[in-house]
Amino acid sequence: MEYIEEIRSLERQLSFRKVIEIPDHFDNIVVAGMGGSGIAGMILRDFYTEKPVILVNSYGIPDFVDSKTLFIAISYSGNTEETLEATRRAMEKGAHIRAVTTGGRLAEVVDESVIIPEGYQPRSAVGFLTIPIFMGLGLVDESEVEETRKLLRGSDLSVDPFRKFAGEIFDGEKIPVIFGTPGLGSVAYRWKTQFNENAKVLAYSTSFPELNHNDTMALENTYRKDEFYFFVLTPKSVEKEINKRIRITSELCRVVLNRVEGEGSTLFSNIFSLIHKGDYISYFLAQKRGVDPRNVKIIEKLKVELKKQD
Ligand code: F6R
Repeated sequence: MEYIEEIRSLERQLSFRKVIEIPDHFDNIVVAGMGGSGIAGMILRDFYTEKPVILVNSYGIPDFVDSKTLFIAISYSGNTEETLEATRRAMEKGAHIRAVTTGGRLAEVVDESVIIPEGYQPRSAVGFLTIPIFMGLGLVDESEVEETRKLLRGSDLSVDPFRKFAGEIFDGEKIPVIFGTPGLGSVAYRWKTQFNENAKVLAYSTSFPELNHNDTMALENTYRKDEFYFFVLTPKSVEKEINKRIRITSELCRVVLNRVEGEGSTLFSNIFSLIHKGDYISYFLAQKRGVDPRNVKIIEKLKVELKKQD
């Protein structure tokens, strides 16, 4: 499949309806996942506030994991060693184990795996990776998902200003810096990782209001500031306090913050429409740079090398 088709498929992915089974009682959620798969856990953490959600993106798991933990392993390939090891440790602790994967070793060890379609780059499968968890936990209903699908279907995101952003980053050889706002920290990070993996450029992400307590000092300074291209991601309707912060930061630090807004009336639609916009911008930047957005050979080679015995 052409990579652009993978990006376009997000709307269809949101119609996936296999869900993880939720235990009657649990005290906390631990989500294990790396890279493009791990993003689904980050989105969950931005979204779900009923119980603590802890993300694991290494081999270890928190000490508190026990039989009252809902442990969700997310790995598109099902063979990522950190996720497999974290899952093994959670099993030892007697947690409720669920998985979202296309198969691999993870599907062999977790009986309750939701199997999602193969043939995508893990990072392009963000809809398949998210829906089984969101719908399983009842975090979104059909009408919210339908609204989001309609927005993704209806808007031609592949036109300006997304090409313009990519063009300006390319022409100025800039490093993208993405500022999230409350509820959209995971999306800012997703943009960063898509710039990394699709366009093969370094990128950085952080969020309002935290950045006002540290990054602001560097923003105000002139040290290499021109080498960066700043985005701020906001929902369609932004809290007054956050809007004020964005305006004042931009004025005081004399910096252009290119604002990109989400679409629709829910956090879910804002998250997924912004993910989609970022995917397009990183794709256009890859095109400009003449690099293959699909290619992640080094990540794969690294995994092979790590599996070899010393
Ligand atoms: C590749 C990609 C990577 C992988 C990561 C973990 O498209 O996005 O970030 O997602 O290396 O692999 P999986 O997702 O198979 O567990």
